[in-house]
Amino acid sequence: MKHFLKETDFSRQQAQQVFTLAKALKANRLNGPQPLNMQSWGLLFYKSSTRTRISFEVGVNELGGFPVVLNSENTQIGRGETIADTARVMSRYLHGLVIRTFGHEIIEEFAAHANIPIINGLTEFNHPCQLYTDIFTVLERISPDAVDIEALRGKKVAFYGDCASNMANSWIITAAMFDMEIVLAGPQQFAPGQAVADALKADGLPANYSFTTEAAEAAQDADILYTDVWVSMGDEAEAEERRARMLPFQVTPELMQLAKETAVFMHCLPAHAGEEVAQEVLDSPQSIIFDEAENRLHVQKAILAKLVECATPTR
Ligand code: CP
Ligand code: NVA
Repeated sequence: MKHFLKETDFSRQQAQQVFTLAKALKANRLNGPQPLNMQSWGLLFYKSSTRTRISFEVGVNELGGFPVVLNSENTQIGRGETIADTARVMSRYLHGLVIRTFGHEIIEEFAAHANIPIINGLTEFNHPCQLYTDIFTVLERISPDAVDIEALRGKKVAFYGDCASNMANSWIITAAMFDMEIVLAGPQQFAPGQAVADALKADGLPANYSFTTEAAEAAQDADILYTDVWVSMGDEAEAEERRARMLPFQVTPELMQLAKETAVFMHCLPAHAGEEVAQEVLDSPQSIIFDEAENRLHVQKAILAKLVECATPTR
């Protein structure tokens, strides 16, 4: 069974097909194919969400399917039913399942026991739907006709703040997958960890990312400046310390000045103006944050369609 738990679950060629399809679906939003016709897809959330929840619910609907939105606490998971049994039971009703949860091992356990496709809607380790969307949003600008992944080669990403976060891990893996350069800038104790190094190794990807504690160094000649919240869901107990330590890594207009003239500012959202990014940067013409948010819909529809295609026996 094909799942989408990490960026590399699709080959480069399949990723290209996802981006090409996303472009077509975006151009023809309400009159496109309906590969989820008569299917019911679960959307299971252990954590809050605005974009992931809405874009998947709308996306499943637009592809002809029926979304079943579930909060883990209101299911029997909240009262201790095992993941294995939950996955087996859900597989009897649903045609696929999107999960947002805490530990990555939870989603891996679902995938191990389900016989329907599982999509990762964010774990503590990564956020692949966001990254595919971010890459598509970049491609729309640098390769608008073909959204050709070859156009990504050599593009420089500067990632700021919590460089051990799910978004940082996803960017490190995606940059390696598409031959991009990535420099991460943050406090030493939030440097990329062993888990992402192990994931690169497991996928045979080069570990050619670099980390600096100098914010300005990362921005030099960058094509993309990217940041994420300093306090991820689950990290609330460390909020004060994180805010104090990460303050030198706020994305400011001065940092943007060091990047290429054509550079864009990106953020998965939600944003906290005055923390990880200055309000002026969010509001600047270089900011493409709402294109990113919109594209979650189109790209995830393409991911759903691709997984359904992979699950359909060819005879
Ligand atoms: N970027 C993102 O995943 O947003 P939500 O937490 O609102 O889903
Ligand atoms: N790093 C953030 C991403 C939110 C979309 C979090 O996990 O809360």
